[in-house]
Amino acid sequence: MYSSKDLKKIIKKIFLKHGLKKNDALISAELIVYAEIIGASTHGVSRLKMYCDRIKKKLINPKPNIKIKHISQSISHIDADNCIGFVSANLGIKQAISNAKKSGIGMVGVKKSGHYGLSSYYIEQAVKKDYIAICFTNAPPAIAPYGSKKSLFGTNPIAFGVPVKSRIPFIFDSSMSKINRGKIRIAEKLGKSLPYGVALDKYGELTTNPKDALSGVQLPIGDHRGSGLAWMVDILCGVFTGSSHGGKVKDPFEDFSGPQNIGHLFIVFKKNLFDKGFDKQIKLNIQRVKKLPRKDPRKKIRYPGEKKYYNFKNNLKKKIKLPKKVYNELQILINT
Ligand SMILES: NC(=O)c1ccc[n+]([C@@H]2O[C@H](COP(=O)([O-])OP(=O)(O)OC[C@H]3O[C@@H](n4cnc5c(N)ncnc54)[C@H](O)[C@@H]3O)[C@@H](O)[C@H]2O)c1
Repeated sequence: MYSSKDLKKIIKKIFLKHGLKKNDALISAELIVYAEIIGASTHGVSRLKMYCDRIKKKLINPKPNIKIKHISQSISHIDADNCIGFVSANLGIKQAISNAKKSGIGMVGVKKSGHYGLSSYYIEQAVKKDYIAICFTNAPPAIAPYGSKKSLFGTNPIAFGVPVKSRIPFIFDSSMSKINRGKIRIAEKLGKSLPYGVALDKYGELTTNPKDALSGVQLPIGDHRGSGLAWMVDILCGVFTGSSHGGKVKDPFEDFSGPQNIGHLFIVFKKNLFDKGFDKQIKLNIQRVKKLPRKDPRKKIRYPGEKKYYNFKNNLKKKIKLPKKVYNELQILINT
């Protein structure tokens, strides 16, 4: 069991040992611990070994020469030089916020990046500064395009956030698959089964076995609609930013033939661009939903971002407990 402060220090030290620059090690440790605190352990310490393995194999560049090209006051393009995804995504959102401050809207495309963890971390930064934000990232093949039985699109999350004055921000952040791939990875690591109806094995049969799901396909949300959305993200992040796309993003756990070359897209804009009454109207909008009759009278109607906000608040001071296998992996990383 670790306090979040201690865990962050340990992870930072591990990344420093693997050659990351001081600030990059700090950002990366921060994101991994953030995932543990909000209860998204699928994107936490269980992935640390993978990042370290890829640095050792020179597939993540620990000392990248990241270049930012400013196309206009609003638009920037980042060449991340195959750095760890946390660092380029963090830079991407900061640049998008800075562009939005100047011109009302900021758009930043990032190429040659890697797995960046949880989208909500980046969205929160913009929302805390009172902006509306949308972000996308593509990911390695997991979902079969509608009509095919071979995976090609990633779980390709879409995240969207708006500030809600004196209330918890609205932050929607979701994979385009029925469950995120991290849940399958962690079920495999811990010897657990998957829920029924989220994945098919390589023969096209429904499976609850994580190993079979990883070599088969994950099912998209909403059938052809989810497949279409995952495709949209692949176009925006892969084709549009100049990164890998169409099934060519490399799996970080299994494909060591080169850097991932993932793309991200960040769009940030001022909330009052069209209507000065945004603060009042967004509260009203949420109130109308919250006041609806409940399906289960004991359960409040939640809006996206609420649960994670409470998780963060309640867990920040609590000790983080890692599953035994993940704990053991961490000890090896500490001691080697
Ligand atoms: N970097 C990558 O390649 C990658 C890929 C996939 C997912 N992810 C990340 O994994 C994380 C988890 O993704 P996920 O698909 O498992 O998300 P999820 O299913 O946990 O949540 C999806 C959304 O539903 C909302 N929600 C949950 N319960 C709710 C309720 N009762 N009422 C109203 N809204 C509710 C959440 O606030 C969230 O916005 C995300 O942060 C995502 O960005 C990253």
